[in-house]
Amino acid sequence: MAEILGLGLSHYPMLCVPDANMADILAWTMEDPDIPAHEKDPANWTPAMRGEWSNDRGAAAAAEHRRHLVRNFDRARAVLDDFQPDAVLIWGDDQYENFKEDLIPPWTVCIYPDLEVFPWRHAHESAAMEGRRNVWNEGPDQRFMLRGRPDVAKHLATGLLEAGIDVAYAYKPLHHASAGHAFVNAALYLDYHRRGFDHPVIMMPLNCYGRRVVSARGFLTRFSHDAPPDPPSPPPWRFMQMGAAVARVLRDSPHRIALVASSSWSHAFLCDRTWRLKPDTPADTRLYRAMLEHDYAAWENTSLAQIEASGQHELLNWFALLGAMRELDMQVQWAEMIRTDVFNSNKVFVQYGPV
Ligand SMILES: [Fe+2]
Repeated sequence: MAEILGLGLSHYPMLCVPDANMADILAWTMEDPDIPAHEKDPANWTPAMRGEWSNDRGAAAAAEHRRHLVRNFDRARAVLDDFQPDAVLIWGDDQYENFKEDLIPPWTVCIYPDLEVFPWRHAHESAAMEGRRNVWNEGPDQRFMLRGRPDVAKHLATGLLEAGIDVAYAYKPLHHASAGHAFVNAALYLDYHRRGFDHPVIMMPLNCYGRRVVSARGFLTRFSHDAPPDPPSPPPWRFMQMGAAVARVLRDSPHRIALVASSSWSHAFLCDRTWRLKPDTPADTRLYRAMLEHDYAAWENTSLAQIEASGQHELLNWFALLGAMRELDMQVQWAEMIRTDVFNSNKVFVQYGPV
């Protein structure tokens, strides 16, 4: 009989860069000529946002933000080490990294063997780290082995297809040289102190970016960018059904499995209602409270239109996790929400179980 652990964490790319650059996405957005000047003027921001930005473009607040994030990654890592999983299944968004114009699957089980990862050499394929210094001062030859469990991954893909979940699967990367940032950053941050990360990983990339995956290349655009949108991602409730099916298949396996949602919550650069300057914190807070109360209906009744309006595209990874946790009746052990206005996204960490 399996044992299952649930974790939610962030893969926030800007945690890789020095504090002085952590607010670079906001700085870039403030140069968008189509955002009204009075919206971009810190004098008109809330005191909280002005306080974070301060007179150092967020550098001092970045150190504090980093401290909270690393503390939670350390906590999640300790839980994982304690649990000793046979495999860590990670749900993460593919932001035009491995999947591009020739194929956009809704979700995919990667049946990969061990994968050699060069986090910085491959950074141009993964979210904004090309040419930037990283906080570890690691160079392009830095590498680590992301261990796989292809046997468990194949069992999962088989079980999902038998259960009527039309999942794609892949034996090797398509466009990316190794793995997208949702997976690599999760491993880098769970190993923030560089002691090594040996837990086998099964990657399950999800199409969270939907209408923006190809049209915006899953990343930053200016307001004037008007490429026609792509078809949408699947709806949130379907992510929950898929997560529940994953839970059922793995529950009936003999393995110890950690199910991990990898993403921050509302993203400023995806949220037009805040002029892309800050995340939609009220929307995040509503879903955070519902998560703490195990109010799954609040999650299930969230529409894709609401998700998109709040810039919560990546939160769809967490809909898979919550679908799985509901299926297994797992309880929140601890959770923390780290709010910010200037560092692009609110971040949430959670542990469910193990059961
Ligand atoms: Fe992401």
